[in-house]
Amino acid sequence: MSSMQPNIKISCKHVWQLFGKNPKRFLQKHDYEPSFAQINEAGLIGAVRDVSFDVYEREILMIMGLSGSGKSTMLRCITQLLNPTAGEIIFDDVDLTKMPKKELMEVRRHKMGMVFQHFGLLPQRTVLENIAFPLEIQGIDQETRIKKARELVDVVGLTGRESYFPRELSGGQQQRVGIARSLAVEPDVWFLDEPFSALDPLIRKEMQDEFLRLQQMLHKSIVFVTHDFDEAVRLGDRIAIMKDGALVQIGTAEELVMSPADEYVEKFVTNAPRAKLISVRSVMGARLKTKPSASVNADAMLEDIAQQVMLSSKAHGVVDASGELVGSINKEQLVKVLF
Ligand SMILES: Nc1ncnc2c1ncn2[C@@H]1O[C@H](COP(=O)(O)OP(=O)(O)O)[C@@H](O)[C@H]1O
Ligand SMILES: [Mg+2]
Repeated sequence: MSSMQPNIKISCKHVWQLFGKNPKRFLQKHDYEPSFAQINEAGLIGAVRDVSFDVYEREILMIMGLSGSGKSTMLRCITQLLNPTAGEIIFDDVDLTKMPKKELMEVRRHKMGMVFQHFGLLPQRTVLENIAFPLEIQGIDQETRIKKARELVDVVGLTGRESYFPRELSGGQQQRVGIARSLAVEPDVWFLDEPFSALDPLIRKEMQDEFLRLQQMLHKSIVFVTHDFDEAVRLGDRIAIMKDGALVQIGTAEELVMSPADEYVEKFVTNAPRAKLISVRSVMGARLKTKPSASVNADAMLEDIAQQVMLSSKAHGVVDASGELVGSINKEQLVKVLF
């Protein structure tokens, strides 16, 4: 764990999205803090309720929650496909909710890449033309955009299929086109809304691996929506959990597993692979009075040290990255947190 403060790419502040009649007036009348019940009584839908969080540079932030919890609406508020009922979306220090339409369009065209569950490809255009399409909108000349599209075809592993039409591709291949298209403008931030949810499990796993490989190359700031906690754990640096339009908890998978905020989060984390997610540092005890004969690293995951510690009758020392003794860990502590 680093003590360095990450740079903030996007800051969402008290974002509300209410659907129905006169939602702005309703919010004002309730001093921007109506309860869930008050919203329902007024016949409104509280799709996003007072959500605040930051997206750091180069992180993969997952938005996770059951169907209907407001994930897509929140994503649409950030990208300004929807103008939120209230709140601020600060992107590179500018509030997008107050930006003139034309400027906003430019930000969306040049700095945001979006991938959706149902691909949204243009059926009468080839793979290459679909990928080049956002560049066409930007007014970039044909030669340049085709060159860029060809590069991206290679990046997403579709070489040889440049002149296929979407209907001639499998679901996984169509989503590769969607991914390539979203990257054509070299966006600063990459938004993905359940991009792999329509794919069958094997392909899905393959696409997740691909996605992580891409991010290792690209280092984008990413907001990724999923209803699948396993996917959130596999892909995310941090996970924001939504319920009924509200943000319930945000943190690393380890933080969620170690201290779930409520029963809703607890339900998701019960089947999480704890040994893979929890580090020695979060379970270690105080330093021993006597010098330990063996030690493990504070930042190691429990799965990496479990065998060593379980097979020993004595407590192990815990050392940090600089080699300093910072704590101890024994069998009992491990068993307690793992089982
Ligand atoms: N345009 C809309 N008009 C009215 N209600 C909407 C609209 N869009 C979404 N909702 C409602 O807002 C809630 C959150 O929806 P959504 O953001 O799509 O959830 P999720 O993506 O988590 O499944 C749901 O109750 C949904 O029915
Ligand atoms: Mg959705």
